[in-house]
Amino acid sequence: MKKYKASGHFQLVARYFNRLLPESSKLLPLKRFFRMTPKSRLMNDKPVAVVTGASRGIGRSIAIGLSAEGYDIAAIARSTDSEGMEILASEVAKKGSQFFPIGLDISCTKCHKEVVANILERYGRIDMLVNNAGVAPLQRNDILDMTEESYDRLMNINLKGPVFFAQKVAKEMLWLKEHVDNYRPVIVFITSVSAALTSTNRAEYCISKAGLSMASSVFADRLSCNGILVYEVRPGIIETDMTAKIKDKYDKLIGEGLIPQKRWGMPSDIAKAVASLARGDWAFSTGTIFEISGGLNIHKL
Ligand SMILES: NC(=O)c1ccc[n+]([C@@H]2O[C@H](COP(=O)([O-])OP(=O)(O)OC[C@H]3O[C@@H](n4cnc5c(N)ncnc54)[C@H](OP(=O)(O)O)[C@@H]3O)[C@@H](O)[C@H]2O)c1
Repeated sequence: MKKYKASGHFQLVARYFNRLLPESSKLLPLKRFFRMTPKSRLMNDKPVAVVTGASRGIGRSIAIGLSAEGYDIAAIARSTDSEGMEILASEVAKKGSQFFPIGLDISCTKCHKEVVANILERYGRIDMLVNNAGVAPLQRNDILDMTEESYDRLMNINLKGPVFFAQKVAKEMLWLKEHVDNYRPVIVFITSVSAALTSTNRAEYCISKAGLSMASSVFADRLSCNGILVYEVRPGIIETDMTAKIKDKYDKLIGEGLIPQKRWGMPSDIAKAVASLARGDWAFSTGTIFEISGGLNIHKL
């Protein structure tokens, strides 16, 4: 742990520079500084990744991959008391990284502030945010029978929650960028091939992911001048709990050539892509969509 660059003269200096700042940035450093307890003014030496939906599937694989890249982990899922979280805790420990499990329903936007504050209290920094938490409709229905209830559920979890969570984290990253040496913040949105491919029996999922894809572009645009890199990772058909119910159907379709590479995607396929973003391999590519789908992106005649 080392101290923030902020010294005893912080107050005076910040007050002076604050006068020169545009209205939108004013007082953020002061407010943030006074909000912090002496303990939270200490900062983790290692970078910190926050992964939502980390208890299973793609999110868990991403969190394990990032711990192998040297990140300490804040892992979010609705419950911290699950076998999935236990497995993740032990995998992260094996990589020599710290683990902080957090219970949050991502759709609870009024809970975000406290969660972000808790992460900063524990680690003092957030270097990477992976917005991965997401759900499929409880029941697949033709778009003509889609219910408002299902639409709202998907929008709140898959779109509104991640967008406002990213907004909170991005504001903290802006502050950290000004105050931490060698700080390379990254935000990743896990969307889906369904952001671009239609499925008439789960329109609410497609619409939520198309919206999240645009959110990724807008954040990338807004934050590019501040040195915060934003990427979209767009998985294809991946073998997880989410696809377990329709496994037989997709086994058949994959066998018939639906996916050019003729196999299911694995959570580790997505985790490897996110790890390369964390390493800084794509430092001149903010706003890029990385589709990991075994060739579903190929338009064939
Ligand atoms: N599997 C695929 O084929 C596929 C394809 C394209 C995109 N994706 C996307 O990839 C992401 C991960 O999918 P997956 O297949 O790994 O799903 P999964 O195996 O069902 O895991 C979903 C994760 O999200 C968490 N979660 C669900 N609802 C949440 C909420 N309201 N608040 C916070 N956490 C929540 C779950 O934890 P708890 O249940 O413990 O809360 C779990 O950790 C999703 O955004 C999904 O849309 C998946």
